[in-house]
Amino acid sequence: MNEKNDTSSLGMADKASAVKDLYKQYVVPSYGRFDLVFSRGAGSYLFDVNGRRYLDLGSGIAVCSLGHAHPAIAEVLAEQGRQLVHISNLYYHELQGRLAAELVRRLGSGKCFFANSGAEANEGLFKLARKFGHEEGRFEILTAQQSFHGRTLAGIAATGQEKVKKGFEPMTPGFRHVPYNQLEAIRAAVSPATVAVMIEGIQGEGGITPASPEYLLGLRRFCQERHLLLLMDGVQCGYFRTGRFQSFQRILEGIPEGDRFLPDGISMAKSLAGGFPMGAFWVREPYADLLGPGSHASTFGGTPLACAVALKVLEVVEREGLAENARQQGEFLANGLRELANRYPQIIQTVRGLGLMLGFELAPSLPGAIQNDKPPSLQMVHRLHAAGLLTIPAGQHVVRLLPPLNLKRAEAEEGLEILSRVVAQVAAT
Ligand SMILES: Cc1ncc(COP(=O)(O)O)c(C=O)c1O
Repeated sequence: MNEKNDTSSLGMADKASAVKDLYKQYVVPSYGRFDLVFSRGAGSYLFDVNGRRYLDLGSGIAVCSLGHAHPAIAEVLAEQGRQLVHISNLYYHELQGRLAAELVRRLGSGKCFFANSGAEANEGLFKLARKFGHEEGRFEILTAQQSFHGRTLAGIAATGQEKVKKGFEPMTPGFRHVPYNQLEAIRAAVSPATVAVMIEGIQGEGGITPASPEYLLGLRRFCQERHLLLLMDGVQCGYFRTGRFQSFQRILEGIPEGDRFLPDGISMAKSLAGGFPMGAFWVREPYADLLGPGSHASTFGGTPLACAVALKVLEVVEREGLAENARQQGEFLANGLRELANRYPQIIQTVRGLGLMLGFELAPSLPGAIQNDKPPSLQMVHRLHAAGLLTIPAGQHVVRLLPPLNLKRAEAEEGLEILSRVVAQVAAT
């Protein structure tokens, strides 16, 4: 680092403003950031530059599935870093093959492609769908209103929210949005150009809305009948967060046909490598060879380093029973949130979600709001920050909890205690 910009010798208060000044001067201001400057993490906690501790129930937007600075991740990063970081996809290496096999084993007969982010994983599925329909001139992909599929040009075209598109028109053609959880809407929208449907198992950015079992099963049947690919964006809701590997497995638990349900493609990213950037998609047979040599690529996709970390994440999740932990701690948190909603219906209207993907919807206006220009979700998130708890807004009215999958009961209790205190304070104003 340039000595002039090195903040290490500054006092605490100076340090936070020095870091923010660097951003102000040198970082493209495309994010609305909170006024928090972090310097280290440990498990479910983050520490700011003043040494203040925060309980992190957002885990970097559902990314740090093993919490912060997990020793197994630190170790594999160092070990693999010493052995082999990158070779390009011109060559083979064992770890990519092994990781693909692990993912396929958890889903069904098919193959995987590796990328670096959720948007890229979805982009791969869009290309797969276009290739699938190319000879018949079919290219259109139906997605849901309130969906979120990433910030690339195709990602914002696929996303069913106007706010991400504004200012970037014209949109990439070939995407149309229909109401979520309504099979009839899909039936009505399909045109001769339609080639695929993409949905999230649980809408995340849209406000934690799970798909219903009937919708999933109905979509599967409908796509089969009409020769459409059924694509699922599992970037946020997948990867054990709901208590099963993919959210649809949890949603369809106990339903006779549920065991046999499989989409044709699934995108993954976020917690795939526990915070190391990685994305992937899985595609079912008989479509697994549609993208032949030369048709799709990524320089960094599936490097030895990323794959080694992802394999380690899988190993720890299995060894420590973290899917079951997500289910148990999730239920505990959801029950606590529901009690809060019963006690303060003027503040919390509903609680939604599965496992450790939870959201509570706030009333349209909160009592005693000091920042009336800010939506209720932001007002609540700010108040929780002040009380030492990190959560994530989803739209105007929903606050999300996406804790690490190894969240401890005592940490869930601490989170609920802070939430109760803050909601009681809001109610009392
Ligand atoms: C469901 C979903 N899809 C795709 C993305 C895009 O992922 P990335 O930001 O890694 O490109 C996100 C990110 O929040 C997401 O929640």
